[in-house]
Amino acid sequence: MSTTLITGGTVVNATGTATADVLVDGENIVAVLAPGSALLGVDLAQNVDAVVDATGKYVIPGGIDAHTHMELPFGGTNASDTFETGTRAAAWGGTTSIIDFAVQRYGERVEDGLASWHAKAAGNCAVDYGFHQIIGGVDEFSLKAMDSLIDEGITSFKLFMAYPGVFYSDDAQILKAMQKSAETGLVTMMHAENGPAIDVLAQQLYETGKTSPYFHGIARAWQMEEEATHRAIMIADLTGAPLYVVHVSAKQAVEQIAAARDRGRNVFGETCPQYLYLSLEEQLGASSPEWGDFEGAKWVCSTPLRSRPEGHQDAMWQALRTNDLQMVSTDHCPFCMKEQKELGRGDFRAIPNGIGSIEHRMDLMYQGVVTGQISLPRWVELTSTTPARMFGLYGRKGAVQPGADADLVIYDPSGHTSIGYEKTHHMNMDHSAWEGYEIDGHVDWVMSRGSVIVDESGYVGSKGHGQFLKRDLSQYLL
Ligand code: URP
Ligand code: ZN
Ligand code: ZN
Ligand code: ZN
Repeated sequence: MSTTLITGGTVVNATGTATADVLVDGENIVAVLAPGSALLGVDLAQNVDAVVDATGKYVIPGGIDAHTHMELPFGGTNASDTFETGTRAAAWGGTTSIIDFAVQRYGERVEDGLASWHAKAAGNCAVDYGFHQIIGGVDEFSLKAMDSLIDEGITSFKLFMAYPGVFYSDDAQILKAMQKSAETGLVTMMHAENGPAIDVLAQQLYETGKTSPYFHGIARAWQMEEEATHRAIMIADLTGAPLYVVHVSAKQAVEQIAAARDRGRNVFGETCPQYLYLSLEEQLGASSPEWGDFEGAKWVCSTPLRSRPEGHQDAMWQALRTNDLQMVSTDHCPFCMKEQKELGRGDFRAIPNGIGSIEHRMDLMYQGVVTGQISLPRWVELTSTTPARMFGLYGRKGAVQPGADADLVIYDPSGHTSIGYEKTHHMNMDHSAWEGYEIDGHVDWVMSRGSVIVDESGYVGSKGHGQFLKRDLSQYLL
């Protein structure tokens, strides 16, 4: 067991900031001390194995990305990051825990879907990982299987109102699954878009020759998100299920969530960096010499990027400030352009949906601090503390406090990070959705459960260090 003392940094928690030294023993934080590292007359710096100077820098709890899809079979291919490559990229970006989505498909046993996800992840991860369970086929068998999820350390499941024929649940299935959610305390996570109506709109666009990626965003209109969000909230209201709406992008969907919260309901929402920064016009409508108007395929994801003149991006930032949205995850679901996104050349409906951002979430959200949109503690709250509380990890994760796992990041506010495929990118993709983004700030050093995994020389972690996180029921519900 080795000891590390991080000295002179500004420790940032969701509750505020303080100049403090952080003492790590083995896998845990054992003390957060007044600066100077003396305890009962003993100079700690003389007695630990390693001293790390964080003067002028922030010491924050490692990021928790509660929405990732490593190796997801989707859109006729597999998401291009494995648990190995995706969690390594997470480490580079200061994220020390992920919660990925295990998949149960229609006709498949939940137990088998979960076992196959364990097989993909075990021994391969650079950082700790947990699972939510996708229920892609709600029937008597999957409903019964949901009773055992909590014992497996899985305390949340995702349903889809989108993707008919793939993961889609109709309202009757949603009702039954939410009854189970209310009964067990499992959090219902909802992909809220009206899939059947979107598919008709997409077909009509395709038939009139509107086949480029831009029309993915037109077919998936904000009305389809608002309507589904409202429907999910009403079924949750009726059943008493705690509801967490994933990847919210439409300002009208946020209004639905805010209204439900104002009525005292257990309704929560997450957004993602892409919905804060990117748009229908600039990205889905992009064109390049290499790809022509197919360039926009890089940013095909669902929910889609929204129109900037309509004000969705500003509304997402506002909701993060007012706590109408509580956290920021990436929905990391990368696909390469070559051979993957290309499947949808000439037909936007066949472009695999997803963007890769796991490496950049902490940096991108820190820009909200730089521009004054969120405070420093709120940055930590949105990216680490609330995900921990929401998904049963708090205490172990989500705060720089004695007893917690030593998942720590030293972030240099005067550092700089250039994002791009050729530059700082370690995700397994042949392009970057964030090409050219210049970040004020830099992830200098990352520790996961007491092991240094990123230092000035780069990634120094190891595959298999990351352990499965058995999660507890949410501490964030009313
Ligand atoms: O486009 C996306 N979001 N792909 C991943 C699957 C999902 O719906 O979260
Ligand atoms: Zn989704
Ligand atoms: Zn997703
Ligand atoms: Zn760097």
